[in-house]
Amino acid sequence: MNNMNNYKEVQYIYELSYGYWKSQVLFVAVEMGIFTLIGDKDKSYKIVSKELGTNPRATEMILNTLVSLGFLKKVKGSFRNAPISRRYLIKDIPLYQGDRVHHFHNLWEFWSRLDVAVRTGKPTAFEDVKDDDVDDHRLSDFLKSMHNIGSIQAEEICRKLRIKEYQKLLDLGGGQGTYAVRFAMENPEMMATVYDLPYVIKITRKFICESGLQGRVKTQAGNCLEEDFGKERFDIIFVSNLLHIYNPAEIRKILKKCWYSLMKKGIVVIQEFTLNSAKTRPTFGTLFGVNMLLGTVGGGMYAGGEIKKWLQMAGFSRVKKMTLSLNSNLIIGHR
Ligand SMILES: C[S@@+](CC[C@H](N)C(=O)[O-])C[C@H]1O[C@@H](n2cnc3c(N)ncnc32)[C@H](O)[C@@H]1O
Repeated sequence: MNNMNNYKEVQYIYELSYGYWKSQVLFVAVEMGIFTLIGDKDKSYKIVSKELGTNPRATEMILNTLVSLGFLKKVKGSFRNAPISRRYLIKDIPLYQGDRVHHFHNLWEFWSRLDVAVRTGKPTAFEDVKDDDVDDHRLSDFLKSMHNIGSIQAEEICRKLRIKEYQKLLDLGGGQGTYAVRFAMENPEMMATVYDLPYVIKITRKFICESGLQGRVKTQAGNCLEEDFGKERFDIIFVSNLLHIYNPAEIRKILKKCWYSLMKKGIVVIQEFTLNSAKTRPTFGTLFGVNMLLGTVGGGMYAGGEIKKWLQMAGFSRVKKMTLSLNSNLIIGHR
């Protein structure tokens, strides 16, 4: 070891190796509700441990570590939420991200068997469950997590896409309907349909009712691989985070159905974490591909160019890409 660069390399190896320590501290803090409990107050570790019913010595260590990770501040021996925690980690605020954190924690179990997936090529998390056997708790955790990220991205998409120009939206694989509801709020002329699997649509209906938009945001239960969603019914089809669940042949099938369901001059808008053509960047995208290896039968991360080619094969023209924050992209095709 003879120069600073070597130290940096060793440091990088160490940082990746203990990376899960940081994740675990955040998971525990969110799941114990530390940020919510502190709220807008200053609290000593003794008070936090008393209110949480946790061990004082251990609580102090976790709180100090949360300071070093930037989530708390320590002022005169007491702890208060840092701006990032106030904005995103206190329950019931509009941009709450704790469910997303919890979702990543849930994935841990599957990631711990990555070696098995690499040896066999088979997922460690996928269960081919029938509608009646779906674990409602897990499903609800998943949809809440999608809602956390969706509530941030829907804002950005409303700003970047001229959502007011479209009247008939299909939100394909729309989950609980975060985007459809947000787009319909943005555009009072819009009639929207959220399409998803029957066991999801039950939750979608509840979410739409809570938004008060049930008059304009409808639901349709079905499997988009098996059923069509109507001929020339929509002027915009939004396909967010659906394609990576499937293999290229299945994706081409879905895109063809989209083309068929769009009115002339309609657009399909795909939201995905895409990769470069070598499939080596960005890092988050490659890792998300591994996540799909663990959680689906044939899904993965695709290069932007692949999705573009599949759109063109389905009949779409003037395909263009728009970069979003949080690792996502929009790929838009015109019918
Ligand atoms: C990763 S979630 C994305 C949810 C939402 N579009 C978003 O971006 O927040 C994928 C959604 O696609 C739905 N889905 C998966 N396969 C489907 C299929 N074959 N037919 C209809 N919906 C499907 C899932 O139930 C889930 O709600």
